[in-house]
Amino acid sequence: MRTFSSVALVLSLVACSSDPQAPPNTGLVDPAIVARGDYLARSVAGCGECHTPRDAAGNLDMSMWMAGVADRFDLVPEDPNVGQIPAPNLTPDPTGLGAMPVAQIIRAIREGIGPGNRVMTPLMPSYVFHNMTDEDAHAIAIYLKTLRPIDNKLPTRQPLPIPLDKPASPVPESAIPHTTLPSSNPQSVRAEHGRYLAAEVGFCMDCHTHWVLGRDQPLDLDALFAGNRALSARDWTVPPPARRVIYSTNLTPHKSGLDKWSPQDVQVAIKTGIDRSQTQLCRPMPSGPFGAFGGLTDSDTLDIGLYLTSLPPIDSGDIPSCQ
Ligand code: HEC
Ligand code: HEC
Repeated sequence: MRTFSSVALVLSLVACSSDPQAPPNTGLVDPAIVARGDYLARSVAGCGECHTPRDAAGNLDMSMWMAGVADRFDLVPEDPNVGQIPAPNLTPDPTGLGAMPVAQIIRAIREGIGPGNRVMTPLMPSYVFHNMTDEDAHAIAIYLKTLRPIDNKLPTRQPLPIPLDKPASPVPESAIPHTTLPSSNPQSVRAEHGRYLAAEVGFCMDCHTHWVLGRDQPLDLDALFAGNRALSARDWTVPPPARRVIYSTNLTPHKSGLDKWSPQDVQVAIKTGIDRSQTQLCRPMPSGPFGAFGGLTDSDTLDIGLYLTSLPPIDSGDIPSCQ
């Protein structure tokens, strides 16, 4: 099992790697930690969904895994004034994170403060990742260190027409709803693990909550998981104004959301991208074999399903469907 002492050991090894005299650290890094970081970055937190370019069909270009994207103009589909937003190169190349110390990578992920104390926009969901455990944040940072360096120089971010002199406030842990299953129910522990996956280390909650860029807290804390965030539809390789806006669905068990869904229905939908009525889910929901969630374990998807189907229901009203 992973322990804090092994994390500390690996951290000291990785920290040495900025010293040019130090031997390469690959091989010294605990493979269990790298595997955990890989799983989280790939399938749970979806880092690769935002930080990897796509091909013309909209699938991730795996030859450029985590090498950054010059133009994430799709991230704010409702506001054409928010211009070119690069998602940085996260590989250890000098055009990416280079030799950035692990502690700084963790700060970027959880606090939204980048290299040189640069304040990141809330397009990087640090306000959600803020609540991930130290152990998981370390695992992701260490995994990024083991990536193949890819030379991909990206433009620097342009000023945005909104007040962004400080990072978005983190979502308070206490604001995230708990399962309504009583603690006497043996499934409640699994549902609470689903809460961690969906709202703290992963980003279901980020896409599935109404969101306004420029607010101190972009997510509507009174309607977490109730959907209605405007997102850009599948073909985000098409520049504005051709892009199409779609809205995320309500994931709470209300008539306007996942009423009547079983945990297994959720499990199938997020893994395969086919919902309960046999409809293919629209992108950018990252489900199915080409999306991040295709790689989630059966146990984790069931835990997420147990959590969502036992949330306090919220009425979102009618959300326009993408179909
Ligand atoms: C929804 C899209 C999205 C997701 C998901 C996402 N990022 Fe980001 N990330 C961004 C954007 C956009 C920026 C640039 C923000 C800015 O410049 O203001 C960024 C910036 C960063 C930076 C700062 C790098 C630098 O050189 O400034 C790091 C490190 C980072 N992300 C790591 C991660 C990791 C690790 C994950 C997964 C745990 C992740 N990101 C998930 C969009 C995303
Ligand atoms: C990048 C944004 C994004 C992320 C992250 C995301 N979703 Fe979605 N999700 C969407 C959108 C958009 C839709 C609507 C798709 C459609 O209507 O076809 C959707 C649809 C769904 C549906 C189908 C609901 C229905 O009524 O048919 C389920 C279930 C779902 N998401 C669960 C999840 C879970 C669980 C997670 C985290 C593991 C998650 N989503 C993360 C954007 C996202």
